[in-house]
Amino acid sequence: MIHASSHVQPADVAAHYDDLDHFYREVWGEHVHHGLWTERSQTVEQATRALIDEVAKLAHVGPGTPVCDVGCGYGGTARVLVRDYGARVTGLTISQAQQKYARELDPHSTNPVYLVRNWLENGLNSRSFHAVIVIESSEHMPDLRQFFSECARVLAPGGRLVICAWLSRQHPRAWERRFLLEPICREGRLEGMGTEGEYQQLAIDAGLRPVSFHDVSQAVKRTWTICAGRVARGLIQNPSYRQFLLHGTSFNRVFAWTLLRIRLAYGIGAMRYGILVAEKPGTAESG
Ligand SMILES: C[S@@+](CC[C@H](N)C(=O)[O-])C[C@H]1O[C@@H](n2cnc3c(N)ncnc32)[C@H](O)[C@@H]1O
Repeated sequence: MIHASSHVQPADVAAHYDDLDHFYREVWGEHVHHGLWTERSQTVEQATRALIDEVAKLAHVGPGTPVCDVGCGYGGTARVLVRDYGARVTGLTISQAQQKYARELDPHSTNPVYLVRNWLENGLNSRSFHAVIVIESSEHMPDLRQFFSECARVLAPGGRLVICAWLSRQHPRAWERRFLLEPICREGRLEGMGTEGEYQQLAIDAGLRPVSFHDVSQAVKRTWTICAGRVARGLIQNPSYRQFLLHGTSFNRVFAWTLLRIRLAYGIGAMRYGILVAEKPGTAESG
């Protein structure tokens, strides 16, 4: 496991997403996750949507499925699952700015519901979801063991956990740790980056049964070429953007430059992107 050189607390993560609210929406839009390019000709929007569809398929999301979206960001995935799959979605984010954006889209929405809450103290009922999806938020959690145990607790028997995660290769070289992986964690406010094996073991330790693991690094890495291009364009075209990135005082602005490290880390295979699927043993009736 790669750890950031200083511990990352939920308050640091909240500040990261609140400070970078405009930056994220400008560079990523309302989906703060990788795209999945199954064909080279796909647009960013199609690739973004493809990742959501893959998660929905692996999590067995259908009409009426109660879904918990852990680290829901601006709620983009939650809205797709409600609108196009008929699911009932509860999304949790640690960022007030993200919840505000999601709520303003539909102030009276009861589905999805957006909560500002730390997943590690989520207070949700046990066995209440048939699917728990986690798109790129597990890396931020200060305690991965507790993260998995909360996922297992809120899942109903027979329910599925699907996690899309930034991972490190099994045995990163010393320089990859020092110049790429550790700085990516620190600057991106990630507590750490695990390996495929560590995620599988944590799922087992939480009482879940691993179903499958998909390494989709090659299909997602294009995301960072596109993001870096958007940042470069923003710097040229948008004065407020330039002001924030070049002259701002927030520590979190450094993340704009981290994009280049991430691109390189994927390029040489130091970073991986995986989708882990695990199931809670039992059947709906046994819950
Ligand atoms: C990279 S964003 C992904 C957002 C969303 N899943 C998406 O795909 O658009 C990471 C998300 O994890 C959330 N997050 C990080 N730590 C969290 C915690 N301890 N509890 C709840 N949410 C958390 C952040 O608020 C943010 O929404």
